[in-house]
Amino acid sequence: MSGPELAEAGRLLAAARRPVVFTGAGMSAESGVPTFRDAQTGLWQRYDPQELATPAAFRADPALVWGWYEARRRGVLRAEPNPGHRAVAAIAARLPDTVVITQNVDDLHERGGVAAPVRLHGSLFAPRCSACARPTPLPSDLPPPADPPEPPGGPEPQIGAEPSGGPESPDGRLTPPACADCGAPVRPGVVWFGEALPEAALSAAVEAASGCDLLLTVGTSALVHPAAEIPLVAARLGAPVVQVNPVPTPLDAVCAVNLRGPAGEVLPALVRAAWPDAG
Ligand code: APR
Repeated sequence: MSGPELAEAGRLLAAARRPVVFTGAGMSAESGVPTFRDAQTGLWQRYDPQELATPAAFRADPALVWGWYEARRRGVLRAEPNPGHRAVAAIAARLPDTVVITQNVDDLHERGGVAAPVRLHGSLFAPRCSACARPTPLPSDLPPPADPPEPPGGPEPQIGAEPSGGPESPDGRLTPPACADCGAPVRPGVVWFGEALPEAALSAAVEAASGCDLLLTVGTSALVHPAAEIPLVAARLGAPVVQVNPVPTPLDAVCAVNLRGPAGEVLPALVRAAWPDAG
């Protein structure tokens, strides 16, 4: 990130009245939440997230998929918003018509001070029945237990294998609760590969991107559609796109300014560049 690029991005932000901040997994990376394409750790390293995050995986092995999402949710509960989340909240406080659109399923924007981000991919904190869609309360958020350790040399569990039973087995499987209405297994309230995005969130995102005067994209590989089209909608309609990412992405092609670096450093610097009095 060079001085002139930061100054130009700061000028665009200071001039904006209806910015959209569009975030992906890189936004939460410095909070210790692994990005989706990061290597999985511990118990989960033998699984490909793209294979766990599917309706077919849940049908084949609900306890495996529920256990993985509960492990991710516990990881998020242990994480704190980073200075990048706080900088996004500072932008929204300065410019009340800011719309924050996130692909993340964590709650770090909210805890960082953004009241109601548009959630394109759902939330780890809003499970629902897999059959009748009834929203279901979470087991308990207090206190988050540690993840179970990797079993030494244990057999490799496979998707579709019998759940090993118990509330939480050493292989990470966790039987999902049953729906209070119909008894079907409760599923994570997230959007899986192959599923449609929530209609209301998608139309709110398209509307905001269509009417924005700056789109700030942060920490997304821009590989997963249709979410990745949101910055393209803004660019097509003439809004400048500013990107924060340590590495190139397909959005480089439409960016007015590329700020190469981590969100937790670049975003606070961007806020200072836009509003030197911000303190
Ligand atoms: N600051 C900014 N960007 C970062 C940082 C950081 N500290 N660390 C990593 N990144 C960038 C990576 O360079 C990468 O481009 O964040 C991006 C993360 O990409 P993905 O893991 O693909 O996450 P995302 O773009 O949010 O994926 C979209 O795909 O897998 C599904 O539903 C899942 O919501 C997710 C969606």
